[in-house]
Amino acid sequence: MAKDWSPDSWRAFPIKQQPHWPDEAELDRALKQIASYPPLVFAGEARSLQTGLAQVAAGNAFLLQAGDCAESFEDFSADNIREKLRVILQMAVVLTYSMGVPVMKVGRLAGQFAKPRSADFERIGDEDIQSFRGHIVNAEGATAAARVPSPERLVQAYHQSAATLNLVRAFTKGGFAALDRVHAWNQAFVASSPAGQRYEQLAQEIDRALRFMRATGMDTESNPSLGTVDVYTSHEALLLSYEQALTRQDSTTGAWYDCSAHMLWIGERTRELDGAHVEFLRGVANPIGCKVGPTMTGEELIAMCEAVNPARIPGRLTLISRMGADRIEDGLRPLLRAAKDADHPVAWCCDPMHGNTYTSPGGRKTRHFEAVIGEIEGFVRAHRAEGTWPGGIHVELTGEDVTECIGGADDLQDADLDHRYETVCDPRLNGRQSLELAFRTAELIRSGS
Ligand code: TRP
Ligand code: MN
Repeated sequence: MAKDWSPDSWRAFPIKQQPHWPDEAELDRALKQIASYPPLVFAGEARSLQTGLAQVAAGNAFLLQAGDCAESFEDFSADNIREKLRVILQMAVVLTYSMGVPVMKVGRLAGQFAKPRSADFERIGDEDIQSFRGHIVNAEGATAAARVPSPERLVQAYHQSAATLNLVRAFTKGGFAALDRVHAWNQAFVASSPAGQRYEQLAQEIDRALRFMRATGMDTESNPSLGTVDVYTSHEALLLSYEQALTRQDSTTGAWYDCSAHMLWIGERTRELDGAHVEFLRGVANPIGCKVGPTMTGEELIAMCEAVNPARIPGRLTLISRMGADRIEDGLRPLLRAAKDADHPVAWCCDPMHGNTYTSPGGRKTRHFEAVIGEIEGFVRAHRAEGTWPGGIHVELTGEDVTECIGGADDLQDADLDHRYETVCDPRLNGRQSLELAFRTAELIRSGS
């Protein structure tokens, strides 16, 4: 267990990106309430994920981490969660079938609410109002009143996470995710796209393979893993008081787990080694991630590995690079080398979204599908050159037919962005673009780019 650590030891460290809660007593009440609630995930589940991620680090498995930039309190329904899950399952099938390695499925889901912001305040007219920090903190409306942080939202985020997880568990264990239902995951608007048609063919091949296996005596009864799937949850551990309230000691091992999600990551803006976020996460036994942006040096990277994974436990640390399509290949190579030379067993994952965001002429935040693919290409090339394993992708997507990212087989244009731009934060790939991305990723990794 981490030395000199306790669930609240982060409070003695400088902290960034926290809201200015107007009423401390109210905040305290909300946190006490959450601390008295049941954990959302369990230590044993986090350990299973870590075992899978150790296989990613060893080059024997792939990580698919996907979901919203920010979950929304308004856009919360069974349909919405099911459609997101469908796309994730489709992508996982494509990756598993094309690459022939197990795929660990991790959602940005059931807790991905809090957002870091570049400025504390935003200028609206002649007024400075507090920035929107995600529905767990305030509302996005452009008025001073909407932006006042409300601790009640922490409690609501807990409840929405619990309900989301409940649905995820039902869908993944209750038949919806069974492999003999691969066809049913292809929604109409996805099925009519080139990637959707390609998926239909792949689903037919899987059907044939399953029939063959059944004929030879291997069916869902003898092989329960064909009928269910493990989908884990993850989010950026940003609001440390919320994370602390859900941190519990595991009765079987005595280790501390942050039971708000299976995996937590440290954001690019809060990864200071002497800061509160690193202090908190070094002490919880969950698998953790750390975003790696273009300014990260090899020395900093190794210092991070030492800080959060001094025992060098495989699967404990996933490094999620996000540099931009133009910088990734050259920027990543020295870091891959540094981790390898230092013998740190890290899993490498590519976030091709955050380094490729820009504002369209119409004023919408967007990303171009080809830039997203371009970053994955550079990521794979860097790994090939260094002899390391391009272990996964981390993407922002939704199952809905939104128009937030441009490009893709539909060749969405700037002018299309206004049709269905619904994200409360960054632009997400729609269902068609997500499936296309899975095919392109599998090809890149198979061919060695
Ligand atoms: N459980 C296996 C796995 O996760 C097989 C499986 C069942 C599966 N349903 C799935 C794989 C849906 C991908 C998508 O690999
Ligand atoms: Mn984002």
